[in-house]
Amino acid sequence: MTQLKYDNLLFQLDERKDVLAVKSVLVLFSYHHKNTEKIANIISKVLNAQIVTPNQVNPEDLQEYSLVGFGSGIYSGKHHKSVLDLADRLPQVVDKRAFLFSTCTLGHEVAKNHTTLREILQSKGYTIVDEFGCPGFNTNSFTRFLGGVNKGRPNAKDFQDAEKFAQNLLQNL
Ligand SMILES: Cc1cc2nc3c(=O)[nH]c(=O)nc-3n(C[C@H](O)[C@H](O)[C@H](O)COP(=O)(O)O)c2cc1C
Repeated sequence: MTQLKYDNLLFQLDERKDVLAVKSVLVLFSYHHKNTEKIANIISKVLNAQIVTPNQVNPEDLQEYSLVGFGSGIYSGKHHKSVLDLADRLPQVVDKRAFLFSTCTLGHEVAKNHTTLREILQSKGYTIVDEFGCPGFNTNSFTRFLGGVNKGRPNAKDFQDAEKFAQNLLQNL
């Protein structure tokens, strides 16, 4: 019985060794409807990663992490200014990986919306391993008179996709 429990524990540890081997953190700014926060919560659970805001983090300290996720809603076609400003203040790094995530109005524009942040991080030496985006509820400007757009997003399918995305990150490290 004891041996069985021990074997089971070893098996569980083995299953989780990918998570334990990667020290990761998520830098998140989410305010409009906390849409991106919902996605970040799912990714952080899979990666066993803490979530911090750009204002909480010292750019130098991010060097402690082998994988950093950067995410926010999309504002005027880019990640939130606080995330971009933090990326600008990061030191040059060697052998560090990052991933990007966001929620926005137009789900098919993810790659385009990520361009500014991707380019800043790449210029700092980060390898962008993957990117995730999905629609998020938006009541900005005139859309509020229509009851907003993307009501109910992110939805259950988006959460499932976010979970798969995070599991895939671990498998490909
Ligand atoms: C001021 C403002 C500007 C926005 N600009 C864009 C945009 O350029 N492109 C887009 O697809 N969505 C845009 N959106 C919609 C947000 O990206 C979307 O609602 C997102 O899910 C908000 O994320 P959050 O709740 O995590 O802050 C904008 C929203 C606001 C409030």
